[in-house]
Amino acid sequence: MPTLRPRVHFTPRANWINDPNGLVYAGGAYHLFCQFNPRGLDHGYMSWGHATSRDLLHWQEHDVALPWREGHDVFSGSAFVDWFDTGGFARPGDPHPPVIAMYTGNAPDHQAQYLAVSRDAGTTWTFATPEPVLDEGKADFRDPKTFWHAPSGQWVSVVAHPHERQVGLYGSADLRTWAPLSTFGPAGVTEGIWEVPDLFPLRGPGGQERWVLKVDTFQGGPQGGCGAQYWVGDFDGVTFTPATPARWADWGRDFYAAITYADLPAEQDRTVWIGWLNNWSYATRLPTTPWRGMMTLPRELGLSADLTLTQAPVRELEARRGAALAPDGDGLALPPGQAVDLPLTATGEFTLTLTSAAGEEAALFLQGGALHLRRPAPPEAPDFAGTHAAPLPDGAFLDGRLDLRVVLDTLSVEVFAAGGRLSFTHGLLPTRPVTRLGLSGAVQGEGWVLT
Ligand code: FRU
Repeated sequence: MPTLRPRVHFTPRANWINDPNGLVYAGGAYHLFCQFNPRGLDHGYMSWGHATSRDLLHWQEHDVALPWREGHDVFSGSAFVDWFDTGGFARPGDPHPPVIAMYTGNAPDHQAQYLAVSRDAGTTWTFATPEPVLDEGKADFRDPKTFWHAPSGQWVSVVAHPHERQVGLYGSADLRTWAPLSTFGPAGVTEGIWEVPDLFPLRGPGGQERWVLKVDTFQGGPQGGCGAQYWVGDFDGVTFTPATPARWADWGRDFYAAITYADLPAEQDRTVWIGWLNNWSYATRLPTTPWRGMMTLPRELGLSADLTLTQAPVRELEARRGAALAPDGDGLALPPGQAVDLPLTATGEFTLTLTSAAGEEAALFLQGGALHLRRPAPPEAPDFAGTHAAPLPDGAFLDGRLDLRVVLDTLSVEVFAAGGRLSFTHGLLPTRPVTRLGLSGAVQGEGWVLT
């Protein structure tokens, strides 16, 4: 399906990907590592694939950064710059501070956390610790997200205990020895195992720093299958204390394993994350080729007055707005195989239909106080079809108007509504490109092709 290759979403040239890993800014580039199978279209031989970008939207793929080896899958984890060489991995004369990756080594019946290091700002990598640095002798213990916590002067790593529906927080001065700080959970949705936690600060109302704990659940997601839940609260260097109930980070069917970037330049003053635009329910059966799996748009995060997470596509996306879409009766005509950015304003119920050149139709509609996405399915994954609903957050209509931003790419639609308090992410699998957007009901808007 060459014309259906996503335009503004990362996909590998070929082969399987899942979770984003090791998102770090180093050497003037945004690095995107990810779970990658160098040998095929299925989950296996898990390695860290690697791509870099200068704008978070155009990606250049590189050689595998951390390859699978017999008895040692390189599962998910994080990366960060060790500015002051606390780990002692630097060598005299190194031009850059070491970039460290902390990842889960997966062996039969054993998962533990290991380190890898890059001395050239993330370009090339070596496995740094033959033995794990954080090991509880467990079969399932994974996905370390590690960051420097300045107030307590230590590294903190948040790691999933999947079966316990817990995350463990660990502290370290040198990245090599770790001590338990606290645990969080079970809480929120506990139907499925927990994976891929993240813990990060955001400025809340009045500029006060709050902390967000995000953890994915393998079952019981907002649309069935997996999903991402979060709490907003406080972190004192030992314990995370939630101040909100669990909420869904995204109400769509395809948002999982998101993690935030480390070491973004301070002047950017933003927090950005990327997720895997997929659902384990059918991920292994998606009929795309020669690749399988894609990332969400990178998103800037914030907190609203009621401590809801807000999301918006990174500001770089606006710079890619090209030709305006041509009006076409009660809709807009779309050049085949393009991605588009559609800011919309609704004053009541509406429908946006997405029709492919083969006549397949998906629809986004607002009805009964909920946003819905209805999509058809390919024969390979009949369970991909469905109508998925997301309740509008309280006060979504401001002075009678609801703001929406729809980013449609060849194989996905991401919707951000109500100041980004509602995020609604779905894959699409038309056999031919979407060429017509039909707009009906109480909605107005415009659209641009994304260059
Ligand atoms: C989440 C996950 C992680 C694991 C990785 C393996 O999608 O299951 O928990 O580290 O994928 O590829």
